[in-house]
Amino acid sequence: MHACFFSDHNRTMEMAAGELISPYKLLFRALTLIPISHYLLIAFFAFIVYVYNLLQFHILHDVFGHNSVSLTFHSSSDLYTEVVSKCNLLHGRYLSTPWLSSPNLQTILLNVLVKTPSFSYKREIFRTSDGGTVALDWLMNSDVSETSFQVNGTNTVADIPVVIVVPGLTSDSNSPYIKEIAYKMAKHGWNVVVSNHRGLGGVPLTSECFYTAGKSDDLGEVVNHLHRKQPETALYAVGTSLGANILVKYLGEDGVNVPLAGAVSISNPWDLLIGDRFFTRGIMQRFYNRVLGSSLKGAAKLHQETYARLSDWEGIEKSRSIRDFNNYSARIAGNFDTIDAFHRWASSARLVTNVSVPLLCVNAIDDPVCTDEAIPWDECRKNKNIVLATTPHGGHIAFFEGMSGKSLWWIRVVEEYLSNLHASPTMSKQQMQKFKESNPLSQDEKKLV
Ligand SMILES: *[C@@H]1O[C@H](CO)[C@@H](O)[C@H](O)[C@H]1NC(C)=O
Ligand SMILES: *[C@@H]1O[C@H](CO)[C@@H](O)[C@H](O)[C@H]1NC(C)=O
Ligand SMILES: *[C@@H]1O[C@H](CO)[C@@H](O)[C@H](O)[C@H]1NC(C)=O
Repeated sequence: MHACFFSDHNRTMEMAAGELISPYKLLFRALTLIPISHYLLIAFFAFIVYVYNLLQFHILHDVFGHNSVSLTFHSSSDLYTEVVSKCNLLHGRYLSTPWLSSPNLQTILLNVLVKTPSFSYKREIFRTSDGGTVALDWLMNSDVSETSFQVNGTNTVADIPVVIVVPGLTSDSNSPYIKEIAYKMAKHGWNVVVSNHRGLGGVPLTSECFYTAGKSDDLGEVVNHLHRKQPETALYAVGTSLGANILVKYLGEDGVNVPLAGAVSISNPWDLLIGDRFFTRGIMQRFYNRVLGSSLKGAAKLHQETYARLSDWEGIEKSRSIRDFNNYSARIAGNFDTIDAFHRWASSARLVTNVSVPLLCVNAIDDPVCTDEAIPWDECRKNKNIVLATTPHGGHIAFFEGMSGKSLWWIRVVEEYLSNLHASPTMSKQQMQKFKESNPLSQDEKKLV
């Protein structure tokens, strides 16, 4: 034994001194002995991990994490006690469709997977005070339901409440998710009107002004018009994405002078300056920036002459991002010194404290288009008229749920919240009371009618 060990040791010493084999050569030789298929397997596994992280899949979190909705509100908020405390969905969990457990998949597939039964709107053309044109697309409760399902608090046909839908960036009444909420709300007993942004929805620009990310005065005029037409009808509004920014900005600017009984903001970008920085950060964000930038260019092309007159068409054509597009269009047309100044002005976050109607805000923390860094938590908590609901997952205006991925959770949330609000004896009337007190003129107008 002893002799044997000794001779082995001697041989190793000889080899090391004589052949001088490099450990790297040995390692290389060993690596070449591993079959190529094993390498392919490792590469495949690494690719899966990369895609899992890139698209931010959350299958593990869905199974092991907590997915409850988190609510932020003022400790003495009547809106919470009277209305939101009765909303079951907001006191439960949001669990995404298992095969869509990625905010990026949800966001990218939003307009692909939503399949709404076909219906057609009735169009009303509204002229704004500057001669602009806004297409209002109506879908009545009676258009979609044979049996008259009635929202609580509704007694006669004239009492049917109206919900105004404000679409996102370049969406209009025919975007799948807008058709989906219009159809679902109409089915649930509401009359729905989609307020298309000027220049969108197939109407021409009829004045020297185009729509921008902060253009909230058109919505104000539409709301006032609807209120003047039917002063007794309860009006509510829902804004999605950039439409939510425009809605909340309007609510803050007009304060108690808003003739709405309530509102909902879904996936609001809140702060366009923070949002703009976010768009330059990750691979996916740069991708969305490109896609949205080119859809803005596409929408502007329909009105090229007006854009060219009011801003820099050459710059617009060269734009490769939302920032570029706004820099060459909205900034110039609106006389802002810098693009950042425009972004600050257009942000709804700075007006949150002045909102006076009962407002529910819904944002997903993993929204890959509108970052959670922009959510104005403190302002929402300070304003008694606001309840902010956030979920860990859901992506951007998607929130797919159920095995088949046919249902959008946020639409059910909007329906439940607005129905409870409308049924609440005090909350839905509170804002209208404030409105009447500060607008005695409109009382007189009513008597004249
Ligand atoms: C509507 O009223 C019925 C009974 O009057 C009640 O069962 C139902 O929960 C109410 N729905 C809402 C949304 O308040
Ligand atoms: C807040 O609302 C009031 C009306 O209630 C309005 O006069 C005021 O201009 C608003 N403030 C801002 C900063 O827009
Ligand atoms: C915005 O456009 C102006 C020209 O109109 C240009 O000088 C400036 O560099 C642009 N800003 C950004 C941030 O692209």
